[in-house]
Amino acid sequence: TRKVIIDTDPGIDDAVAILLALKSAEFDVIGITTVAGNIGIATTTRNTGRILALEGRVDVPVIAGAAGPLSRKGFDTADIHGNDGLGGVAFPDALSQPVAGDAVTWLRDTLRAAETGSIDILALGPLTNIARLVTEYPEAAGRIGRVIAMGGAVHEPGNIGPRAEFNIAADPEAAEIVFGAGLDMTLIPLDVTRKVRATRDDTAMLQASDVPAAVASGALIDAYFQSTTGGESRPLHDPCVMLLALDEELFGCETLKLAVDTGTTRDAGALTVSEDGAAVSVALKVESAAVLKLLYARLKAE
Ligand code: BDR
Ligand code: CA
Repeated sequence: TRKVIIDTDPGIDDAVAILLALKSAEFDVIGITTVAGNIGIATTTRNTGRILALEGRVDVPVIAGAAGPLSRKGFDTADIHGNDGLGGVAFPDALSQPVAGDAVTWLRDTLRAAETGSIDILALGPLTNIARLVTEYPEAAGRIGRVIAMGGAVHEPGNIGPRAEFNIAADPEAAEIVFGAGLDMTLIPLDVTRKVRATRDDTAMLQASDVPAAVASGALIDAYFQSTTGGESRPLHDPCVMLLALDEELFGCETLKLAVDTGTTRDAGALTVSEDGAAVSVALKVESAAVLKLLYARLKAE
């Protein structure tokens, strides 16, 4: 098993990704840090506790992180993820309170207490917490094994601006800091996540299961069908992070030098391949059928 910390803003697809991680014995989820993104920090933190409660997990600490981006105003995407951030899908109440204190100091202390390189970070939201760790405690950040993050659009259009993707656009300065930090970093952009799509048949199949994680995931993706347009299927962005960690062979990565647009136009957060950019390993290919099969099998496993 591999020790992982999930940094997240649940969020419909974040919830599916967290459930996948909890259902995968390859991961020892040692904590979940939250960030404002899809919805405010109080709700992303509460939702994380609710998702853990569905799996009866009382052993995974939840630690609240940044309430907004490093230096700009936050987004509100309640129209996509519902007023509760989870599309109105029923979850139990959290079984325990979040750990007192801030995600960044918890990350610092946890990384310092562990062997260097032994903990990976699976990042599903804006990169604010990780950027603060890099800036405030670089030696602790240097102890991270690898970071796998969902974010950005490289050769594809964006989903919040013409070329900007939500997680990067929500905090472009944070992304620029994290990309430039010299971490072992893999980015999974929309180029890949848009190819990993659930159909209505898939949500029906998940909901027909009697396994809570599968039923909840089916309901979450159904809620996503209702709140977004896009034809017969919907992209499963954040689960791709866990799926790449589980089986890297199902993805094709390339090292690119990426510059982040930190301006103030509608395309703030857009990524450009540039000699001035920071070298990041970027997933550009995916075996869609195989990753979906892995995802659904894990969600449905008893
Ligand atoms: C990303 O933005 C969020 O809305 C999703 O949870 C995902 O992390 C996709 O652009
Ligand atoms: Ca997310």
